[in-house]
Amino acid sequence: MKDSAPQTVYLADYAAPGWLVDSVHLTFRLDPEATRVVSRIAFRPNPEGTQDRFYLDGENLKLIGATIDGQPVTPEITATGLTCPVPDGPFVWEADVEIAPAANTALDGLYMSGGMYCTQCEAEGFRKITYYPDRPDVMGVFSVRIEGDMPVLLSNGNPVASGDGWAEWHDPWPKPAYLFALVAGDLVAHSDLFTTTEGRDVALNIWVRPGDLDKCAFGMTALKASMVWDEQVYGRAYDLDLFNIVAVDDFNMGAMENKGLNIFNSSCVLAKSDTSTDADFERIEAIIAHEYFHNWTGNRITCRDWFQLCLKEGLTVFRDQTFTGDLRGHAVKRIDDALTLRARQFREDAGPLAHPVRPASFVEINNFYTATVYEKGAELVGMLKRLVGDDGYRAALTLYFDRHDGQAATIEDWLQCFTDATGRDLTQFALWYAQAGTPQITVTDDFVDGTYHLTLAQMTPPTPGQPDKQPLHIPVAVGLLAPDGSEVVPTRMLELTQAQQTYTFAGLAARPIPSVLRDFSAPVILNHTQSAADRGVLLAHDSDPFNRWEAGRILARDVLLAAVRDGKAPDPAYLDGLRATLTDDQLHPAFRARILALPSEQDVADALVRAGETPDPDRIHSARRQVRQAIATALDAQMDAVFATMQVPGPYDPRAEDAGRRTLGNTVLSYLTLLDAGHRAAAQYEGADNMTQQIAALGCLLDIGAGQQELAAFRAQWQGDRLVMDKWFGLQIARSDPAETVTRAESLTRDPAFDWKNPNRFRSVFGALAGHMAGFHRQDGAGYDLLADWLIKLDPLNPQTTARMVTAFDAMARYDATRQELMRAALTRIARTPNLSRDTTEMVARILG
Ligand code: PHE
Ligand code: ZN
Repeated sequence: MKDSAPQTVYLADYAAPGWLVDSVHLTFRLDPEATRVVSRIAFRPNPEGTQDRFYLDGENLKLIGATIDGQPVTPEITATGLTCPVPDGPFVWEADVEIAPAANTALDGLYMSGGMYCTQCEAEGFRKITYYPDRPDVMGVFSVRIEGDMPVLLSNGNPVASGDGWAEWHDPWPKPAYLFALVAGDLVAHSDLFTTTEGRDVALNIWVRPGDLDKCAFGMTALKASMVWDEQVYGRAYDLDLFNIVAVDDFNMGAMENKGLNIFNSSCVLAKSDTSTDADFERIEAIIAHEYFHNWTGNRITCRDWFQLCLKEGLTVFRDQTFTGDLRGHAVKRIDDALTLRARQFREDAGPLAHPVRPASFVEINNFYTATVYEKGAELVGMLKRLVGDDGYRAALTLYFDRHDGQAATIEDWLQCFTDATGRDLTQFALWYAQAGTPQITVTDDFVDGTYHLTLAQMTPPTPGQPDKQPLHIPVAVGLLAPDGSEVVPTRMLELTQAQQTYTFAGLAARPIPSVLRDFSAPVILNHTQSAADRGVLLAHDSDPFNRWEAGRILARDVLLAAVRDGKAPDPAYLDGLRATLTDDQLHPAFRARILALPSEQDVADALVRAGETPDPDRIHSARRQVRQAIATALDAQMDAVFATMQVPGPYDPRAEDAGRRTLGNTVLSYLTLLDAGHRAAAQYEGADNMTQQIAALGCLLDIGAGQQELAAFRAQWQGDRLVMDKWFGLQIARSDPAETVTRAESLTRDPAFDWKNPNRFRSVFGALAGHMAGFHRQDGAGYDLLADWLIKLDPLNPQTTARMVTAFDAMARYDATRQELMRAALTRIARTPNLSRDTTEMVARILG
């Protein structure tokens, strides 16, 4: 056996599979150290195939024996697969392999978590279970028999038969191997029933460990809401008699859409009011919806190859965002999505890891489950919808489902449906999928004799491997306000296609105030110099809630920049605007909370970098604190009143109405705590009967250097609950003083409850460390060293999670020479680690450039 060097895979090299699969029969004899997997696969030559050599992927498998049409064969085996001569025409391949799930710490393939067996096969995990053409354009009908000493034995599709220690499953829908799943364990189910619009009765189960049964009700409600929504909004009904969700504690990602058997990171499905926050509830609802929606966008129509990942992920994220908006309000959801996009995707796009929504090459596909593929991918769907309108979108999606059901499709197929359904030429739009980087649009205007000219100029900066960019097709929603704030021109969807274009609005009585990029109509950065007075008018009056928030956001950013650059106190006009918003009872509390929340330290750093300056994390941290203190002082009385009126009486309800009130209450509490020595927060902590209120209060106390007693009490109360303990680990790092962040994190790694092999626990410490800008970027490099030490330790066990967390270093180039040097040293140390995984090697190499 020879280890092959990591190879780059190119989209341009796509070759249709030489053989297709009709049916797959798998028999599992479960054993922690030596599970046997017997496969029987019916192959037939693909008439369109362009491969002439029969090849099956396989990694870390012990082949016991193989036959073709019943005759023993001796394949040629390498570290990544096998090949052997095969007959012309159809044949049956059988193989018997042995694998060791208990030794599988990478959590990819068949592995064990807390005594249960489970699988993770996306993207290329099935090849760690048996030899197979592990590529999404090979779709087969799977039958599975599981033999094992476990009370619950699950796989995809419908149950066929079962007995003591065995169960058989059949999934009638052809699927790629990445959607295969198996679960075996001592599990109990929270069950329900759903009848589809087509009259199909579907049994629903959420499978958990016995102690977690009281955390399933919310997930079940979310699942049923998702099923109804997909029927009503997309006309898509569920297609099996059974839908299973399983919660597992050890999982690299959030959740996985395996056909009929979704597997969830327990943090993304288990919820109850005393252990989960409002934010957890909302996230869980969205992830359950996301995985459920994949049944059509991902499973019934899958991806031809992994370069097309955004075909399923971008569309499914767009669908779950719309779902959440429908349930909880579109304005606030759009704001939250824009914040996430800027914090994660714009930052990715601005650094060494920038890549197109559809990458052209990769070394390790697991490194491309990124904000660009997911969140920017969703923005592209949103832009398409804006360009063709609601009816056009509906027609295009109907065509997509009709035309490609049962297929493995491409972005070209997807765009062709829009063109065929609406007649729109999307040739230029297609560039969005291929060109990396965040476009910048510069806005200028003039007003002469009642005519207003608005000029938009677009530019996309160079990204790694893409020095020259072409103009994109960008929908820019624009409205015009009169100086008194009334709307004189309602929203118009301008289509920017040239490098620069001017739009004319005639017959205006006075120079208007433009509201540009309403509802964040495209994932771009706007360079638009507007007076603070105009922004004040937009903040007070814009009919578009997103831009109303955005105006306040930019005012806040400018206040923060002035504080960082010159130590300036906030402008009184800004404080007046904030006060007016805070006390405006016409506005939804959740919306007011979004306006009151200042841009993060990272956001301030982004703005400085864009202005060509080098961010100083300590200075940003203290300037932001100063501004918060000044806001608290100026708005003390109003905040006190709002805090009182935002208390939510009665039993906890996770829905948007109450959650919004708690968010606003806790936002003002974070300001009030700066003035009252923590009195209100301590009282709230004492009296809290739900996690939202309890942890918000604790965070406020930690913020002012108090709360140690509460932190200990919190631990004593929750040490039996893994998910709450993850919060305990993360919070005290996230809310630490920058001088203490690294020591806090370091001492927590010595805590007996620090189970570093569990990805959630590892992330709770190191995600919080990397997310604390001033703490992580401590000038002596101690933050970098601590993270590097632990990534080096984790890599041999779990390459996927390691590679993901290396991204903490991706903003290296924006810092001063000393910090850059220290980060480079830490990365180089990781890079030189013997036997570093392919995943981490690729990431470090890309960051080092
Ligand atoms: N396909 C999963 C999702 O988006 C994400 C995932 C990818 C999970 C790879 C595990 C492994 O919903
Ligand atoms: Zn997904």
